[in-house]
Amino acid sequence: MQTSFEEKVWAKIVPISEFSQDGGTCAKIGDEQIAIFHFQQEDEWFACENRCPHTGDMVLSRGLTGDFQGEPKVACPLHKRSFSLKTGKCISDETYSVRTFPIKVEEGVVYVAVDSSTVAKE
Ligand code: FES
Repeated sequence: MQTSFEEKVWAKIVPISEFSQDGGTCAKIGDEQIAIFHFQQEDEWFACENRCPHTGDMVLSRGLTGDFQGEPKVACPLHKRSFSLKTGKCISDETYSVRTFPIKVEEGVVYVAVDSSTVAKE
C-alpha cells in the first residue's frame, strides 16, 4: 500500500476583525471552501470544510455553533447533523464526517493549513 502525504502550507485568510463573533465565516482558498469559526468566550478558532457531506451543499459556515459534552461543534443549517470541530466526526450520525484544518492566529491575522496544491490554484 502506498501512502502519500502532501505538504501543508499556512494560507493567510484575513484579519480577525473581519470575522463574525461566535459565528462562521466562509473562506475560499483555491477551489476549496473552508468554514472558519471563532468561539469568542474561549477565544478558540476552528476550521472545517464548508461542504456538508449529507447533501454536498456548501452550508456549514452558516451552521449553529455550540458544544456537545464539551466538544465544540457546528450543526448543519439544513438538516441539523452536528460535526465535532476538533475531529470532524458527525456526532449524530457516524456515517458522515468533514475534514478539519489546523488554524492559527498570528499578529491578528488568521491562517489555515491546507495542501500546497490548494494554494497553487489561487
Ligand atoms: S445538508 Fe447538512 S445535514 Fe443535511
